[in-house]
Amino acid sequence: MHIELTDNQKAIQEMVCEFAARDIMPHVARWDREEEFPVDVFRRMGELGLLGLPIPELWGGGGGTFGEYAVAIEELAKADAGLACAYSVHVSAHTNSVFEFGTEEQKKKYLPRLCSGELIGAFALTEPNCGSDASALLTKAVEDGDHYVLTGTKQWITNAKSAGLFLLFARTNPDEPGAKGITAFLIEAGTPGLAIGRKTRKMGMRSSETYDLVLENCRVPKSAIIGTLNEGFKIAMKTLDAGRVGIAAQALGIAQAALDEAKKFANERVAFGQPINRFQAIQWKVADMAVRINASRLLTYRAASLKDQGLPCTKEGAMAKLFASRTAREACNESLQIHGGYGYTDEFAIERHYRDAKVTEIYEGTSEIQKIVISRALLGQNASNARGSEARNQTAKV
Ligand code: CAA
Repeated sequence: MHIELTDNQKAIQEMVCEFAARDIMPHVARWDREEEFPVDVFRRMGELGLLGLPIPELWGGGGGTFGEYAVAIEELAKADAGLACAYSVHVSAHTNSVFEFGTEEQKKKYLPRLCSGELIGAFALTEPNCGSDASALLTKAVEDGDHYVLTGTKQWITNAKSAGLFLLFARTNPDEPGAKGITAFLIEAGTPGLAIGRKTRKMGMRSSETYDLVLENCRVPKSAIIGTLNEGFKIAMKTLDAGRVGIAAQALGIAQAALDEAKKFANERVAFGQPINRFQAIQWKVADMAVRINASRLLTYRAASLKDQGLPCTKEGAMAKLFASRTAREACNESLQIHGGYGYTDEFAIERHYRDAKVTEIYEGTSEIQKIVISRALLGQNASNARGSEARNQTAKV
C-alpha cells in the first residue's frame, strides 16, 4: 500500500487548491450567509474534469480513482464543505451508482451529461420518518402497465432544486415492510408529479441546497428502474459504502482547515507579551489535532484504496467516517477555542467550519450507525441477522 500521494493525486490536489483560491474562497462567506448553492461554480468543476472523476473516460469521466476523488473532496472541503457536500452527492451517491448499477442505455443517456455538469445528480433515500432506519421507507411505487406510479415524500435531499436526475428509492412490494421490497429508480427533474418541497434551513453546509421532494402520482416508465426490481436497498447500501469514504474525506478537509486556521491565529496573536503559540496549552491542542487528522487521513485513503482495488470497503469506510467526522468536530472545537472570542464571530472562518463539521457525524449514516456497521462486520454477523431489532433499537434517529 502506498501511503504517500501519487503524482496524479498531487496534480488533482494542486488543481483543486488553485480552483478553490480563485473561484471559491472570495465568495464562500457570502454563500454561507445567504444560503446560496453556487450552481455555476459547481458546473465549472465539470470543465475541470472533477464531476466524473472516478468514472471511465468511455462515459465522459476522468478515468480516475476513488483515491483521487478523495483528494478532490478533501481539498474542496478545506475551502467550502457545503460545496464538497454537493460534490460528494453528485459524484459518489449519484453518478458512480449510475455507472455501477445502470444499464448500457441508462449509462449512455446520463453519464456523459452527469460528468460534464450539464446534469446534476441527487440521492433520495431518506424520508420524514426514516433516516437511520432506511429500509422502513414508505414512498410507494405501484405498477401500472408499463409504468410505475410513485407517491411519497423524501427529505433532506442535497442538490434537490438544481438536480436534473434523482436516484430515488421506493417500495415496490407493499407486502414486504423491510429491505426486500425496495426498488431504485432514476427519475428526471420535471417529470409530472415530482415537485420540490420545503427548503431545509441548516446550521451549516449552507452553500449546499437541501429540500424535500414530493411525489404525487409521479408516473415513470419501467425503464427508469436501475438495478433489479425489489433489490434496490442493496444499491442504497453499496452506494453508501463508497459515499462514506467521501464524507470521511470531507471531514478530513474540514479538520485540516481548522488546524490551518488555528496555526495561523496562534502564530499571530500576542497575549501576555508573547505569541500564543509559545504556550503549552496551545501547543498541545495543535499536536493532538495533527495526530488525529493524520490518523483520519490514513483511514480514509486506505478505504478509498480498497474501493479502487474492487475489494469490500464497508467496514473500512465506516471506520474512516466515524473517526474523521469526530476528528473534524473536535478539531473545530479546539481551533475555535484557540481563536478565543474572535472564533465566535463570523469574521473568522473557524466559525463556519465549526457549524459545517457537525453534520459529518450525522449524514450518510450517523456515528452510531457506523458503529453498527463496523461491529456487525467484526462479529461476523450477516447484516440481515440483526435487521430490525438491533439497528432500530440502537439507532440515533436522523
Ligand atoms: N452492501 C450490500 N448489501 C448490503 C449492505 C452492504 N453494505 N448492507 C446491507 N446489505 C443487504 C443485506 O445483506 C440484506 O440483504 P439479504 O437479506 O439479502 O441478506 C439487506 O441489505 C438488508 O440489510 P440489513 O438487514 O442489514 O438492513 P437494516 O434494515 O438492518 O439496515 C443499516 C442496516 C446499516 C442500519 C442501514 O439501514 C443504514 O445504513 N442506515 C443508514 C442510512 C443512511 O446512511 N442514510 C444516509 C442518507 S443519504 C445522505 O445522507 C446523503 C446526503 O445528503 C449527504
